[in-house]
Amino acid sequence: MSTEPYLDADPSAQTGAATPTNARKVFIKTYGCQMNVYDSDRMSDALSRDGYVATETMQDADLVLINTCHIREKAAEKVYSQLGRLREMKKARAAEGREFMIGVTGCVAQAEGEEILRRAPAVDVVIGPQTYHRLPEALKRAKAGERVVDTEYALEDKFSHLPRAEEARTRSRGVTAFLTVQEGCDKFCTFCVVPYTRGSEVSRPLAQVMEEARNLVSAGVRELTLLGQNVNAWHGKDEAGRELTLGDLLYRLAEIPGLARLRYTTSHPRDMDERLIAAHRDLRLLMPYLHLPVQSGSDRILKAMNRRHTAEDYVALIRRIRAARPDIALSGDFIVGFPGETEEDFEDTLRLIQEVGYAQAFSFKYSIRPGTPGAELEDQVDEDVKSARLERLQALLLRQQQAFNESRIGMEFDILLEKPGRLEGQLIGRSPWLQSVNVTGRADEIGSLVRVRIESTGANSLFGTRI
Ligand code: 5AD
Ligand code: SF4
Repeated sequence: MSTEPYLDADPSAQTGAATPTNARKVFIKTYGCQMNVYDSDRMSDALSRDGYVATETMQDADLVLINTCHIREKAAEKVYSQLGRLREMKKARAAEGREFMIGVTGCVAQAEGEEILRRAPAVDVVIGPQTYHRLPEALKRAKAGERVVDTEYALEDKFSHLPRAEEARTRSRGVTAFLTVQEGCDKFCTFCVVPYTRGSEVSRPLAQVMEEARNLVSAGVRELTLLGQNVNAWHGKDEAGRELTLGDLLYRLAEIPGLARLRYTTSHPRDMDERLIAAHRDLRLLMPYLHLPVQSGSDRILKAMNRRHTAEDYVALIRRIRAARPDIALSGDFIVGFPGETEEDFEDTLRLIQEVGYAQAFSFKYSIRPGTPGAELEDQVDEDVKSARLERLQALLLRQQQAFNESRIGMEFDILLEKPGRLEGQLIGRSPWLQSVNVTGRADEIGSLVRVRIESTGANSLFGTRI
């Protein structure tokens, strides 16, 4: 079981390419959610228009961008310690007379703004998630000696200014790709900074999403994961002006020839509408796996969190989804130690987990985020109580995950071959439920769906034979 859905440093986000030796090089280090991974790729595309090439090592770079996450305290602190190390690198470069620029992007940039320049004097530019298309211009200003902070909520739509994924077609793309369809959140859960860092909910128009999806598929992508902080709040209009929701979008995307699989993340229980549930029933391409965070199983805590549903609402919703798609597996997010959480509240969460049964889950100790309503609450829970609860919760979730993996033994299903395995002649594929599956195969089979039977399970993956 993962305790950290969020990245420390995702190698896939550090896009590399064969490069002319004299080009300026950018290294992007990505923290946080998949939306940051997507944004890092778009920034990399925008900079390549400006003559930069991506490099896979920080030592090699002329420009380092730290794409940050602000969701929990630890994440933000990591950024400052990283910036301390970069400052040393900048000093060493200056001694050699070489340029070295440092940019901070993402949610810490948005939340801290000017404060970053004060705390980290080596930083040249600070850019929030809504203004990435202005990054090349900000770098020019920084080169002229200015220290730039741009964290406006730009009125223009960043997606129509950033190069789309298709411009990166010459770059080698994997079999799977993320596609951001929605950004921001209007839900204001009392623990969460997202509504403040990413702003209010914005959906990308249908035509833009369809175009990007078609381009990705024609570049060889077989599986698309639609992204949004609140992806199932996506809404748009069709050609005739009729209102569409995420379910409708999935029906449309499922028609794209060559596309093999669809997923979406992350969803809020309140936005799981009938159309989306119907999509799970009808669409073979839509994978039977749903990340549907509940955070707590206690009605009192859910209310204090402003989740605007009860534990029973959630369980009833899962029942409806399972009735539509019996093989669906659930994943969730949980917070322990929200202010005022008692032992009984916590046991309600354990009970809910028992009742639902998760294939995977991410769980966290509540972390105070300044500026959110939760930070103002009295009855903050002691750190050691939080740790003890987290340990119990994770033990239960780990048992459920192992049971889920073991329940696949003997099953036959299609996996999507994604990359070479560790050993010669082996490939790693992905099950419908996001599990890695090791099988034999040739490199030229990457990108195909193949049928396997699961023989055994390892710590983090399954072992299959081809049939
Ligand atoms: N403390 C702990 N966990 C949090 N999350 C969001 N904000 C906080 C916080 N202040 C968790 C939630 C959310 C996931 C992305 O991160 O579980 O679903
Ligand atoms: Fe944060 Fe709640 Fe919005 Fe999710 S739904 S991003 S937890 S405010």
